[in-house]
Amino acid sequence: MYSTLNRLNHLSSLATTYILILLGLISISSLITLPTVNIGKVDIKDLIVGRLRRWGAKEEDLATLRFDVRTDLNPLLNSYNTKQLFLYLTATYAEPTGDVHDVVLWDRIVTRADMRDFRAVTKKNQAQPARGKRGRGNVRLEEVKNKYPWKQPSGSFKGVATANFTLHYDLMPYVGLLSSGVAATARGPINIPEVIKR
Ligand SMILES: *[C@@H]1O[C@H](CO)[C@@H](O)[C@H](O)[C@H]1NC(C)=O
Repeated sequence: MYSTLNRLNHLSSLATTYILILLGLISISSLITLPTVNIGKVDIKDLIVGRLRRWGAKEEDLATLRFDVRTDLNPLLNSYNTKQLFLYLTATYAEPTGDVHDVVLWDRIVTRADMRDFRAVTKKNQAQPARGKRGRGNVRLEEVKNKYPWKQPSGSFKGVATANFTLHYDLMPYVGLLSSGVAATARGPINIPEVIKR
């Protein structure tokens, strides 16, 4: 003879087991159908290296830039298991000594709900959406400034000729493992300009 409480307990533990099995299946199937992204384009604009001179502090170079991005992340958003995306732009460059740096210049979390705003970043595109390019995941960023300061540990960009720019994504699923990849890149290395003295 079971009491009502016992029955409830049994039922709820059964339900938990089914849910766990279901979640396991979802995470396995989303691993198998890992989406692939066509790598889009990053345009670097107005890359400037200035020299900061502050009273009593060491002189220091500071690089600033703006960038445009065009890429199609629909394959990532079409999965029901996609909770959010983490996008970040890095500059990768080598010092004359051979040390390679990977610097994060900008990032943004994109949730499902965000996607509509994200597309609306470009007013031009909003008014006249490109034919055949509709969809929530068409990322159009224009004239975005770097969010994090880009400095050198040595204080100077001397001897750094070029940098590669890459927009990465991390896909955070509701269930299962995080996966990452490249969403867009600049076409080839970008020249680092001469320092502007202020
Ligand atoms: C930058 O990209 C080029 C290919 O476009 C590659 O040959 C070079 O090694 C890259 N530089 C760094 C520092 O990763």
